[in-house]
Amino acid sequence: VSDPLGWLAHVARAREVAGLRRRLTVRDEELVDCASNDYLGLARDPRVVAAATEGARRFGAGSTGSRLVTGTTEAHLALEGALASFVGCEAALLFSSGYLANLGVLSALAGPDTLVVSDAVNHASIVDACRLSRAAVAVVPHRDVAAVEAALAARTAARAVVVTDAVFSVDGDAAPLVELVAVTRRHGAVLVVDEAHALGVVGDGRGLAAWVGLAGDADVVLTATLSKALASQGGVVLGSRAVVDHLVDAARPFIFDTALAPASVVAALAALAIVRSEPGLPAAARASAHRLAAIARDAGLDASDPAAAVVSVRIGAADAALAAAQRCAQLGVHVGCFRPPSVSDGVSRLRLTARATMTDQEYGLVRRVLDAVSETATTP
Ligand SMILES: Cc1ncc(COP(=O)(O)O)c(C=O)c1O
Repeated sequence: VSDPLGWLAHVARAREVAGLRRRLTVRDEELVDCASNDYLGLARDPRVVAAATEGARRFGAGSTGSRLVTGTTEAHLALEGALASFVGCEAALLFSSGYLANLGVLSALAGPDTLVVSDAVNHASIVDACRLSRAAVAVVPHRDVAAVEAALAARTAARAVVVTDAVFSVDGDAAPLVELVAVTRRHGAVLVVDEAHALGVVGDGRGLAAWVGLAGDADVVLTATLSKALASQGGVVLGSRAVVDHLVDAARPFIFDTALAPASVVAALAALAIVRSEPGLPAAARASAHRLAAIARDAGLDASDPAAAVVSVRIGAADAALAAAQRCAQLGVHVGCFRPPSVSDGVSRLRLTARATMTDQEYGLVRRVLDAVSETATTP
């Protein structure tokens, strides 16, 4: 009989040839970190780490159950209240990851009678959320507001949702939220915005929707992760009380999932308190991104213009991008590498993430490393 999993070796070989194998490596703590999502440098902040410890001591290592059974602690409710008031929304609901927050919100707000209009470079969790919702999905070109309007105008479905990243995870550019909301309002659609890369970084840290005055509007629903600027784990949906109540009743990724661990909840509360008390942090993360982009351009590389803390450097071929990332690591700097299918246009990129706490010495090393890499990398 044939091996039912024999095909795995064939696809692995095909990926190897295309330079697309992925490997898990233990992170090297000695490298300068330009790859993580710790945009505010809070993941190792003693106040956040102490809060995580205290959360586990007080409520236990795990949350012990789903939110509707034993998984809701005072800390969960406190964090929901703190996030809602910080961002400027009526209510918030925690999920155990940002990925699940996106699955939860779209599967509960959209269904077979709904059209979901989704930007072509939205995060994979939004793509999967669209599928889970069983809605009709129109994928529109990146940041193309006219295409969104055309899709809404042509719809036959009774309801419509437009979904976008606030700051896109690959190139770090921002969504045209003001133009999008004008279109959703003309067509009676809901706007869902994923603030994963914007919360804690854009504006005074409240995110892009708050920055442009849309947070708290009843027809705008926000999602975010607690795992980037807020230095913890978990996800959140922010919106009206009616939306949050509906999610508690209907969002399967909320209902059938063990609640976020207390240590993560209390750590995120501490990080949020730091963002509130140190209003210079979001601007410092953005300044760091601009400095990294300038260093990359000085080295002759094709760097994006960062809207928040993500800088992407277009390289081209997947193997060239991988080789460049490996060279950065050999020389002391950890950078990300995005290859297909994570890049929809097939152009592989280095991805440098900024940190509010980067030092001049670290920028100096990044400069030397990117100069060296630029000599060998091919730009498209
Ligand atoms: C835009 C965006 N949305 C959602 C997520 C998922 O969040 P989490 O890692 O908390 O699952 C990420 C990244 O991880 C992201 O970049």
